[in-house]
Amino acid sequence: MATHKLLLLPGDGIGPEVMKEVEKLIGWFAKRGIGFETETDLVGGAAYDAHKVAISEDAMKLAQAADAVLFGAVGGPKWDGVPYAARPEAGLLRLRKDLGLFANLRPAICYPALADASTLKREVVEGLDILIVRELTGGVYFGEPKELVTLEDGSQRAVDTQLYTTGEIERITRVAFDLAKKRRNKVSSAEKSNVMKTGVLWRQVVSRIHKAEFADVQLEHVLADNAAMQLVKNPKQFDVLVTDNLFGDILSDIAAMLTGSLGMLPSAALGAEDPVTAKRKAMYEPVHGSAPDITGKGLANPLAMIGSFGMALRYSFGLIEEADLLDKAVTNVLASGTRTKDIATAGMNAASTTDMGDAIVKELNALS
Ligand code: IPM
Ligand code: MN
Repeated sequence: MATHKLLLLPGDGIGPEVMKEVEKLIGWFAKRGIGFETETDLVGGAAYDAHKVAISEDAMKLAQAADAVLFGAVGGPKWDGVPYAARPEAGLLRLRKDLGLFANLRPAICYPALADASTLKREVVEGLDILIVRELTGGVYFGEPKELVTLEDGSQRAVDTQLYTTGEIERITRVAFDLAKKRRNKVSSAEKSNVMKTGVLWRQVVSRIHKAEFADVQLEHVLADNAAMQLVKNPKQFDVLVTDNLFGDILSDIAAMLTGSLGMLPSAALGAEDPVTAKRKAMYEPVHGSAPDITGKGLANPLAMIGSFGMALRYSFGLIEEADLLDKAVTNVLASGTRTKDIATAGMNAASTTDMGDAIVKELNALS
């Protein structure tokens, strides 16, 4: 029988606040016969406070055993001084690496009702629907050597290593092309092959896989700096944008602002399909961070976290109708004018984090 085992890792800052709204949805689905077996554990600064590590071995075991992990956010000024290896972000990076979550899907959709919330002009973002596919377990985030050393003269030298192998590029390329086939059939691949050897290899591998396996999909290569510029100039030219770990981090923050707010962008991090069980390890997280400046004030927008739960329904549990229903509820709630502060326009009453969660539940009731 299919299991629905979820591990909730709310983390720090606004993480627990937005996770609470997802728990309301889990409760809602349970009442309709779709039960999730949930466990909750600590990650990030919260784990550091309790165990002096960014994630405990027990929490890692739970993550390995879960069908999907829902992750809130980590970090905050409170932990600025902790040892580098135990910094809150290390918990997130370990989860990604140890679970083998190499494919990060970051969809940027501009809901019709939010076209005026973006800092860009309505006509530039209205109807936007792009998908950033970010390589998540390689590149400069994990390449060795990675060090900060003190030299004989007392000055210091820091090294990060950008490293990619053929296999790492091949598998993320296939994910991007497979997804493009279900969308508008176009892949844009971003790298810096004009400066970086990893960019040269990236371009070669993407071209080869395209020719051999996906010749019916349109492919364009774009330099990463130009991709950043094109994203703000004419974002609707993109369908699927595949790129490495660091460029993907940066380009997805840009994409987020096109949708109105960083508080709107969900993400899925997926591993390889197990050849026996056909299951993938997966973690779902909002693209926004822990937002210490608004923590505890009821200002956080829970929609990126809620959208991440929706992606879990879709990609981990095959609950497509339910995921569509949730998307519809979000669209309708936004259309009705319910907005948290980050997406409210002048003269609107801002809804709190819990108001927004409640509005989604109410709309789900109305729709079903
Ligand atoms: C993200 C975040 C993380 C990253 C941080 C928190 C380590 O910015 O998921 O985009 O850089 O990948
Ligand atoms: Mn980021």
